[in-house]
Formats: sequence, C-alpha cells, structure tokens
Amino acid sequence: MAGDGDCARCCFSFVFTSGLAALFLWLSLRPYKPTLYIEDFSVPALNLSDNSAAARNNHTILFKLTLRNQMKDKGVGYANISLVFLYNSTLVVANHTLPAFYQGHGKTAHRKEAVEAAGLPWVEALASNGSVRFRVRAATRVKSKIMLWFTKSHALLVAGDVEVGASGRKVKKKSIKLKSGVAGPHSRWLRMGLATLFTFFIL
Ligand SMILES: *[C@@H]1O[C@H](CO)[C@@H](O)[C@H](O)[C@H]1NC(C)=O
Ligand SMILES: *[C@@H]1O[C@H](CO)[C@@H](O)[C@H](O)[C@H]1NC(C)=O
Ligand SMILES: *[C@@H]1O[C@H](CO)[C@@H](O)[C@H](O)[C@H]1NC(C)=O
Ligand SMILES: *[C@@H]1O[C@H](CO)[C@@H](O)[C@H](O)[C@H]1NC(C)=O
Ligand SMILES: *[C@@H]1O[C@H](CO)[C@@H](O)[C@H](O)[C@H]1NC(C)=O
Ligand SMILES: *[C@@H]1O[C@H](CO)[C@@H](O)[C@H](O)[C@H]1NC(C)=O
Repeated sequence: MAGDGDCARCCFSFVFTSGLAALFLWLSLRPYKPTLYIEDFSVPALNLSDNSAAARNNHTILFKLTLRNQMKDKGVGYANISLVFLYNSTLVVANHTLPAFYQGHGKTAHRKEAVEAAGLPWVEALASNGSVRFRVRAATRVKSKIMLWFTKSHALLVAGDVEVGASGRKVKKKSIKLKSGVAGPHSRWLRMGLATLFTFFIL
C-alpha cells in the first residue's frame, strides 16, 4: 500500500537534493568576484641606467591596474578602491584611492596612476642594485548586479608582490594577479570544501 507513494517521494527527494547539490556546486565553482592585476609598475628613481638628478629625485611610483569582471552574467559595483604600497613587502610607503565605479558584464578596466612614495628608503633601495620588492594591497567592497538588482556587498582584499629590476620597471613581463592571501569566510577553497562536503553528505 505504501509502496508507490514512498517510491515517488524518495525519487522526488533524490532529484531535489541532487538538483540542490548541483546548484550549490555551480554557484561555488564559477567566478563571483572580479580579478585585479598589476599590469605595469615602474619607479623612475630605481632606473640604474638613468643617473640624472631628475630621475634620482623623482619619488613617484607609476602603475597600471587592471580590473577584470570575468562574469558574463553580472555587473560589478566597486566601492572606493584603497591601494597600499609596501617596500620589501613590509614597510608602507604610499597609499592611493581609486574612486568607486560600475563595471558591466565581462568588461575590463585600466587605471594608470602615479603615487608619491616619500617614505621609501631610497638610498637603501638603490643600493640593492636592481632588485627591489614591492607589495601592492588592494581593498574594496564589491557588489554584483544581476539584471536590475545589486546583491549585498562583499569585501575584496587582495595583494601581490612586484619585483622591480635594474631598469626601474617590473621584472615580470606578464601582469601580476592580486590574490587573497588569508582565507576569509568567502575564500574559494572554503566554498569548494563546503560544496564537496555537502555533496558527499547528500550522496
Ligand atoms: C631608464 O633610463 C633610460 C635612460 O634614461 C631610459 O632610456 C629608459 O627608458 C628608462 N627605463 C624606464 C623603464 O623608464
Ligand atoms: C617622475 O617621473 C614621471 C615619469 O617620468 C613623471 O611623469 C613625473 O612627473 C615625475 N615626477 C616628478 C616630481 O618629477
Ligand atoms: C570615496 O573617495 C572620495 C575621494 O577619493 C571621497 O570623497 C568619498 O567620501 C569616498 N567615499 C567613501 C564611501 O568612502
Ligand atoms: C629590505 O630587505 C632587505 C633584504 O631582505 C633588508 O636588508 C633590509 O633591511 C630591508 N629593509 C627594510 C626597510 O625593511
Ligand atoms: C596613508 O593614508 C593615511 C590616511 O588615509 C595617511 O595618514 C598616511 O600617512 C598614508 N601613508 C603613506 C605612507 O602615505
Ligand atoms: C651591481 O650590479 C652591477 C651590474 O649589474 C655590478 O657590476 C655591481 O658589482 C653590483 N654591485 C653590487 C654592490 O652588488
């Protein structure tokens, strides 16, 4: 008597939970935040082939930041983007704020800017003879726009190391991707781990 009803219910719950698991996995695995890159980075004062006083006394860091929204179905609203520059990856030497903006689906934006790094130990940096390491940290909040609605905003905290060579320019030819170092509650690995656990639990 119970046979058919139970089977249907069981079948329904199986389809429902697998569907839910699939949805959860899909949500976890696809990109949900934009990606930031240091596309260019140069420090004229660290150009060893330019010995002019003008170059030596130029305490500017020139950089180009790329912001990529790789999500094809969502726009991204960025709050003010705060950038911090660290010498040797430890000493804060400059900071800069990029204004808030909105970025459409699959779009890439470039910001070419200059910052004054007065706090940098220039004599020491120059003495390191063509290999100076910087770290760039970016902090902002992003919210996704799905059709007409914005989601709740999430913190985006990323950083990357940039090696500056004897030419005063970034050594790596390729853009440097800024990554989230500390595993926050929205860390990708945590989400993937949870999704996997959830799937196993259901199966
Ligand atoms: C370094 O200085 C040399 C000589 O002034 C110049 O030709 C070169 O373009 C400079 N390099 C960078 C990365 O600015
Ligand atoms: C430093 O050098 C950059 C690039 O050559 C230039 O745009 C900037 O105006 C210079 N800054 C100063 C204070 O000379
Ligand atoms: C964003 O930065 C601008 C100046 O760069 C400032 O006037 C504004 O108050 C900032 N907005 C927020 C929400 O911090
Ligand atoms: C930068 O790093 C070099 C080598 O690791 C070290 O000798 C120097 O003391 C450091 N300087 C600062 C200001 O941290
Ligand atoms: C960074 O910005 C804060 C205020 O926003 C300022 O007090 C501090 O001096 C800045 N640091 C450097 C190294 O420019
Ligand atoms: C700095 O580099 C130049 C060539 O790259 C080399 O001739 C010189 O000996 C180096 N100096 C030090 C202190 O390492």
